[in-house]
Amino acid sequence: MTFPSNFAWGVATAAYQIEGATRIDGRGESIWDRFCATPGNVLNGDNGDIACDHYHRYHDDVALIQSLGLNAYRFSIAWSRVIPQGRGAVNDAGLDFYDRLVDSLLAVNITPFVTLYHWDLPQSLQDEGGWTNRAVVDSFAHYADVVSRRLGDRVHYWITHNEPWCASFLGHYTGEHAPGHHDLSETLQAAHHILLSHGAAVPILRANGDNRTRVGITCNLTPDVPASDSEADVIAACRWDGFFNRWFLDPLSGRGYPEDMWTYYESSVPTIQRGDLDQISAPLDFFGLNYYFRAVVSDQPDAPVPGTRQHRVDGSPYTDMDWEVYADGLYELLIRLSKDYSFPALYITENGAAFPDRVTPDGKVHDAERVAFLNSHFAAAHRAIGEGAPLAGYFVWSLLDNFEWAYGYAKRFGIVYVDYPTQQRIVKDSGRWYAEWIASKRER
Ligand code: FCB
Repeated sequence: MTFPSNFAWGVATAAYQIEGATRIDGRGESIWDRFCATPGNVLNGDNGDIACDHYHRYHDDVALIQSLGLNAYRFSIAWSRVIPQGRGAVNDAGLDFYDRLVDSLLAVNITPFVTLYHWDLPQSLQDEGGWTNRAVVDSFAHYADVVSRRLGDRVHYWITHNEPWCASFLGHYTGEHAPGHHDLSETLQAAHHILLSHGAAVPILRANGDNRTRVGITCNLTPDVPASDSEADVIAACRWDGFFNRWFLDPLSGRGYPEDMWTYYESSVPTIQRGDLDQISAPLDFFGLNYYFRAVVSDQPDAPVPGTRQHRVDGSPYTDMDWEVYADGLYELLIRLSKDYSFPALYITENGAAFPDRVTPDGKVHDAERVAFLNSHFAAAHRAIGEGAPLAGYFVWSLLDNFEWAYGYAKRFGIVYVDYPTQQRIVKDSGRWYAEWIASKRER
C-alpha cells in the first residue's frame, strides 16, 4: 500500500484531555472545569486537573512522538490559558507554553496542526451565554488573532473548531458535555455561532501567516444506513444524515442550511443575519474528518431529535465505547467528501478506538484489537486515495490514554498507555505497530 510521499502520519490530542495544570500560570476556568465539578456529570467524579500532566511533561511527550517516527502532531490550545476571561487581557504565560511546545516539535521535524477550539470555552464567556450569545464570535476572532500572531510564523496548519456537532448537540441538547444544557433552540443557535466564529477566524489566520498557511475545520461525520427498507426508516436515515452531517457540511461549503432539516427543526431554527452564510463558507484549504463509527437507524418519531433509534449490528465487532467497528464507513465518507463537496484537501484528523487495555506481567500492553482496527482503517483510507480522494494525512486518536470527557479515565484510546498514578507512559503494541507501518511507508 503506497501513500503520497509527503503524507502526514500523526497522532491527535486535545488540551483539556491531557494537559492538567488547570490552576497554574494564570489559566482561567473553562466550562469543562465547571462541568466536572458538578457531581453526576463525569464518571467517577473525574476531572482534567492532572490528566496526563502533559503541561509539565510536554518535552518527554514530544520525544515519544519522535520515537514513533511520526511527522505530524495535532493538539489544541486551551483558550482560557491564553485569554483567561475569554476576552480582554492576554496571559503571556499561557502563550509561552504553546510557544515552547511548537518549538520542541519543530526541533525534531514534527509538523504542528493546531486546533483552536476543542470544547474548553472560558467559563466567563459561558456566564454571558457562551456559544448562544452572538458576542462570542468576536471573542473567538480575537483569540484566533492573538494565537496566530504569536505562532503564525511557525504554525502553518490551523483547525478552527473540533466537531461542532458535539460542541453544540452534546453540550446543549443531550447535556452529556459542558455546559450540560437541554434545549434545541440553544443548540442550533450555538451551532450557528460556532460556524460563524469559524468563518470569522479564517481570514485572520491567513492574514497572520504566510503562503504556507493552511486553514481548515474538523467535523465528526457518521455515515448511516436505514435499519430496514421501509419508507419510514429510509426517511429517518436521511434525517439522521441531515442532523449529523449535512447541517454542518452544507453551510461550510456554501449551500446554506439543508432545507429538509430547516423545516424539521420548525421554531427551533437559529436566528441568522444577512451575510452570515457567506462568512461561514469562507473558502477552506482542507477539511478535517473525524471518523469513529456508523449509525444504523430506524424511525422513532417519539424519540428526541432526530426521531430515530440506533441499532446494534449482529456479528460486528464493537469497541469499549460500544461503537461499531466499520472501516468501510471511512472509505464511504472520504469518497462522499471528494465527490459531493469540493474541499481541496482532506485530512483524517481523528480515528481510533478504545479497548480495555491492561499491562500484562511482561510489562507490555498487547492491544491486538486496536492494531486490527488501525490496519483496516488505513486500508480503507488507501482505497479512497486510489479512487481520487485528496487525502493528505492521518491522525490517530490518540497519542496517550487520556480524559475521555463524560467517561473520565475509564476509556483508553491511546497508542501509548498511561499509568495515571505514576504518569508512566508504556508504548502499546499498536504504537509499535504504527511506528513500523510508518517506517515501511518511508522506505519506499
Ligand atoms: C472525539 C473527540 C475527542 C475524543 C474522541 C474519542 O469526538 O474529538 O476529543 O474524545 O472523540
